[in-house]
Amino acid sequence: MNKQLFINGKWIDASKVVPLKSPYNGEIIAEIPEASLKEVDQAIEAAYQARMTMAKMPAYQRAKILENLCELLEKRSEEAARIIAKEAAKPLTTAKGEVARTIQTYKFAAEEAKRIHGETLPLDAAPGGESRIAYTVRESLGVIGAITPFNFPMNLVAHKVGPAIASGNTVVLKPALQTPLSSFFLAELLQEAGLPAGALNVVTGRGSVVGQRIVTDDRVKMITFTGSPAVGMAIRNKAGLKRVTLELGSNAALIIDKGVNLEKLVSRCVTGAFAYQGQVCISLQRIYVHEEMYDNFVEKFVEATEKLKIGDPLDAETDVSALISPDDVQRALSWIEEAKQNGAKIATGGIADRNILHPTVILQADPSLKVSCQEVFAPIVLINKVKSMKEAIELVNDSRYGLQAGIYTDNVHTALEAAELLHVGGVMINDIPTFRVDHMPYGGVKESGLGREGVKYAVEEMTELKLVVFNRN
Ligand code: SIN
Repeated sequence: MNKQLFINGKWIDASKVVPLKSPYNGEIIAEIPEASLKEVDQAIEAAYQARMTMAKMPAYQRAKILENLCELLEKRSEEAARIIAKEAAKPLTTAKGEVARTIQTYKFAAEEAKRIHGETLPLDAAPGGESRIAYTVRESLGVIGAITPFNFPMNLVAHKVGPAIASGNTVVLKPALQTPLSSFFLAELLQEAGLPAGALNVVTGRGSVVGQRIVTDDRVKMITFTGSPAVGMAIRNKAGLKRVTLELGSNAALIIDKGVNLEKLVSRCVTGAFAYQGQVCISLQRIYVHEEMYDNFVEKFVEATEKLKIGDPLDAETDVSALISPDDVQRALSWIEEAKQNGAKIATGGIADRNILHPTVILQADPSLKVSCQEVFAPIVLINKVKSMKEAIELVNDSRYGLQAGIYTDNVHTALEAAELLHVGGVMINDIPTFRVDHMPYGGVKESGLGREGVKYAVEEMTELKLVVFNRN
């Protein structure tokens, strides 16, 4: 199946195509266009030309296009889930969950389109401000460059495209090379939903060509990126005065206090650690358990982990499938080996079956090990013993990342103290750090990124505040 670039409302053959292989069995599932500089340039120009059409489009129309998209996606949700499962090796049940969330995200975007507003200001609060009426409005920026990752090929695209359309911007989208099919599918649906030509352009290809051009082109006013800290920082350095939102990685942690009911939380922790093979920015990577609960928790967690079903992503029974690439399997295995060599205990897993890394539980890993201090993005979780909540909070904060963290505790004082002291973008009390619904603010501190997503917050990032002062005298 030969795919084409989507530029200015038309499907266009690229000068070059590359095979897209299933991460699960290596079969070629499509031929993907690799855009040249000229083609990226055409896409940016199309978005640039369409910017006034989108800026002038009334809010109810922008909302209607997004509502139409939700209806189309609902009708074709089975097909959408299979696309994700195939290209990303995301287990089908999890892929269906992603499609349901994608519909939610676009619904929130449709609603948000209707409530973008400013405020009035009492200018006479300052001497010299008398007799002036002031108000603010939020204006669209123009062209937004969206660079998206492989792990949520529909919903993380929705978190960029939805708010961009809601706020009257146009988009040049560069989806991850490993998972472009979801974005081509979206382009087809948005065209059917009534989006004007040029308002969304999908260009696949190499970061050094497509990404580089989008990031440095003056017609593009904002970059919204989800991916690795290294690429995020390179984008920030090249983007000049463009606005930049970066959703980067993490080694998300959870604290479990003494006295909590383990029966209720073990299966939730297993899901947090191993859903989509741990390839989630807020995947549960480090668990710090009070010493009074440690042995009991480890026993229950390992038992539940060993029940997970490993296999074909298209099988509805599968819990854990292949990592996105063989290189990632090798990297994860070498990090596990480093942990073993340095005295950590592998309680289960630690082996790979072709591209599938078995869910791996590592006990008492030193904070300096790669499995602890870097983002594993693989089905690996660490369980460490702590003497106090103070020690646990210090360990969670001892990280270059700070996206989300969780704490299970029955003590309200401990909960509130953790909420205050944890240096992250979001604290989940009595839940895992892997919790996300699509309207909440989402983003991190430190190397986890800059700015916030979550539709309303992304709309704020994608609009410019303009002040109007009216002098009555
Ligand atoms: C991410 O990996 O950053 C997204 C997580 C999510 O949306 O659940």
